[in-house]
Amino acid sequence: MAESITFLLLTGMLLCGLLLHTVSQHGARVDNSSKKPNFIIILADDIGWGDLDINKPEDKTNSTPYLNLMAEQGLKLTDFHSPASTCSPSRAAILTGRYGLRNGVTHNFAVGSVAGLPVSEVTFPQLLQEAGYYTAMIGKWHLGHNGPYGPTNRGFDYYLGIPYSNDMGCTDVSGYNLPQCPPCDTPRSQVFRLKKKAHEGCYSKIGLPLIENSSIVEQPLNLWTLTEQYKATATRIIRNARARQQPYLLYIALAHMHVPLAPTLPPDVPATTHHPSDGRVYSASLREMDSLVGAIKMASDDIDEKNTLIWFTGDNGPWEQKCQYAGSVGPFLGKWQTSRGGGSAKRTTWEGGHRVPTVAYWPGRIPPNTTNPALLSGMDIFTTLLSLAGVTPPSDRRYDGIDASKVLLHGEQIGHEFLFHPNSGAAGVFGDLQTVRTGKYKAYYITGAAESCGGATGRQLLHDPPLIFDLEHDQAEETPLEVRTPEYQAVAKRIARRREELLWDIATDNSVSTADYSTDESAAPCCNARQAACRCNLQGQLDGN
Ligand SMILES: *[C@@H]1O[C@H](CO)[C@@H](O)[C@H](O)[C@H]1NC(C)=O
Ligand SMILES: *[C@@H]1O[C@H](CO)[C@@H](O)[C@H](O)[C@H]1NC(C)=O
Ligand SMILES: *[C@@H]1O[C@H](CO)[C@@H](O)[C@H](O)[C@H]1NC(C)=O
Repeated sequence: MAESITFLLLTGMLLCGLLLHTVSQHGARVDNSSKKPNFIIILADDIGWGDLDINKPEDKTNSTPYLNLMAEQGLKLTDFHSPASTCSPSRAAILTGRYGLRNGVTHNFAVGSVAGLPVSEVTFPQLLQEAGYYTAMIGKWHLGHNGPYGPTNRGFDYYLGIPYSNDMGCTDVSGYNLPQCPPCDTPRSQVFRLKKKAHEGCYSKIGLPLIENSSIVEQPLNLWTLTEQYKATATRIIRNARARQQPYLLYIALAHMHVPLAPTLPPDVPATTHHPSDGRVYSASLREMDSLVGAIKMASDDIDEKNTLIWFTGDNGPWEQKCQYAGSVGPFLGKWQTSRGGGSAKRTTWEGGHRVPTVAYWPGRIPPNTTNPALLSGMDIFTTLLSLAGVTPPSDRRYDGIDASKVLLHGEQIGHEFLFHPNSGAAGVFGDLQTVRTGKYKAYYITGAAESCGGATGRQLLHDPPLIFDLEHDQAEETPLEVRTPEYQAVAKRIARRREELLWDIATDNSVSTADYSTDESAAPCCNARQAACRCNLQGQLDGN
């Protein structure tokens, strides 16, 4: 009797589930039958694998206490990779779950870019929005800032942030790698100075616009108060979740740890160990970032702890060229490259450019204090969130992300069998699948270096046969396997076959998009485009117009 009642209940639930399937605008199938989880994705900029305390147990500087706690109460992913080694392609791949060769975004957009992530691409925020989510984004977008390319047209109900990197606007104050404006003492500001008080023509701020939804709300921007603005907005969005009565997605793309760094420097901050000179600036920024993450976690814990997944990761490795203002690659030194001159972090496919510190936290669902070495990518965020929300993405296109929900929730250690890293910064063909991971092996068809801290750049080299490293025994990628060994031959054969399959798959994918990378001065978001370096503020534009 009891059994048949259970059976009836189950059947009823299944039927409900089926009836509740609906099809959204983009052809995604949506399952409304159960309470949907909230998602908070925190994407740090240019962060190094070795920046988090949890990835360098020997270093006791204690720079990231809140992230340490999040890892202790959640899951640390140790073989998680950004989908590209620079900003725009990495972000495009995260949002679309597709390689740049499919979504069209293979290198960075500029201040004057007229377009962005092709509108033919579908983003996971769009699909979650259509499935009934409230979707908000805070921070750096870098996927096109004009008209249809802005965040509020790509799936976000709300946006507050800067349209691209924080070094893409200038200032008149010096230090901390702040980009210098042309001299502010121009005839125009001289004239102006007569009308208003002195120094008005010079910035103590940065010529970046702060955008809310699709309007400029501040320009130039006070970079020193941006963290507080982000914190206040993020916690407000989280705290308002109950009143909205909708599940929510909050995507926070931090300005940290991209130069220029703008931390408030408390006197007790120790220098990071890998940067004895002036490392305090980096270290203080890291703490500031960590406290922002801590505030977000605390707000979420207060509101809907058991129903919220927080996923922290990075967009690419540290910008080594910036010396004491760059993060640490940890043990992933890319020695094969550095011994030949040149950098091996951001803008390269060496581990330093791709392996990003990653923590996932979901009390009651993700087992606490665990570590998982599955080979994963930022593209998996797309597939995993949709899976957890019961949304099947549109079937008119092919995806490269995998559903990692079993890795997150059940400790399954199965990730990508093959994961490709595209060229997204060095010379050569953008988007080229120059490097591939499979298991502990990593093969390079092309190597190319970024600029190192000392200014050296390595040459781009083609490798036929490819260079293959065994990362289990050689994290620093110093000595490739001997070509003649059976081990090398077996790996080379497998990856060559897979690379051909993937290239064929992309060549026959009808949904491949092409991004428009053209630029035009007038496309720059500027409240007063006639001023050198966009010197203006919204209260009263400098030339009185
Ligand atoms: C499921 O959610 C979608 C998106 O919010 C909505 O359009 C649809 O009406 C819902 N279906 C049911 C059966 O509640
Ligand atoms: C942005 O949109 C929100 C509603 O989502 C609104 O409350 C806010 O006033 C808008 N801000 C601007 C600057 O338009
Ligand atoms: C987490 O795990 C580490 C080692 O695996 C252990 O030393 C530590 O005590 C654990 N922390 C908690 C809170 O259980």
